Amino acid sequence: MTEIIQNDTTALPALNALYTKAFPDEDLLPLLKRMIGEPDVISLVAGSLDNPMGHVCFAHGTVNGHRAALLGPLAVAPEHQKAGIGTALVQAGIEAVLAGGAEQVLVLGDPNYYGRFGFQQEDAVTPPYALPEGWASAWQSLSLDEELPSGTLELPDFWMDPALWSE
Ligand SMILES: CC(C)(COP(=O)(O)OP(=O)(O)OC[C@H]1O[C@@H](n2cnc3c(N)ncnc32)[C@H](O)[C@@H]1OP(=O)(O)O)[C@@H](O)C(=O)NCCC(=O)NCCS
Repeated sequence: MTEIIQNDTTALPALNALYTKAFPDEDLLPLLKRMIGEPDVISLVAGSLDNPMGHVCFAHGTVNGHRAALLGPLAVAPEHQKAGIGTALVQAGIEAVLAGGAEQVLVLGDPNYYGRFGFQQEDAVTPPYALPEGWASAWQSLSLDEELPSGTLELPDFWMDPALWSE
């Protein structure tokens, strides 16, 4: 069983290497730097802080005053993929945001992957920026006890960058 550790800023240099390998065409480090260490962010590392095999963040937001969480980013080092690490991180994170009072978890990602956790296309809660055409199925949610009322997901500043919501 992979160890999942709540991390603070100490893992940032190692996370830089992990995200560079997992996302060779994207620079998520500026987002990570702003997220990690924020009091309302869940940041989980799989493995060890100096040599993480995987990492996930969850940010808390609101929809019409109701607490919601946004999953992302998520990365598993290529040499450790398909070993259950992504699943362990997502499940641990969902438990943590539930404990933090979120009523729904939202994600922008591959439905083929997130569908395995029960995520379904979300049409009532809209993301902060309009998504590119054809991305509707990538905007998904997992409702916990009950669904949130419709509305826009309000997020902390670090997610308020249109480039993070476009191709
Ligand atoms: C997507 C990612 C996080 C999955 O992590 P992981 O540790 O490999 O995932 P798990 O081992 O828990 O689950 C692997 C399963 O998911 C499947 N899977 C992985 N990526 C998938 C995808 N994009 N679409 C569909 N299935 C996918 C695998 O085929 C495997 O299936 P199996 O259990 O039937 O063999 C990891 O591959 C990754 O970091 N990829 C590059 C970065 C990325 O795309 N992150 C984005 C998430 S939006």
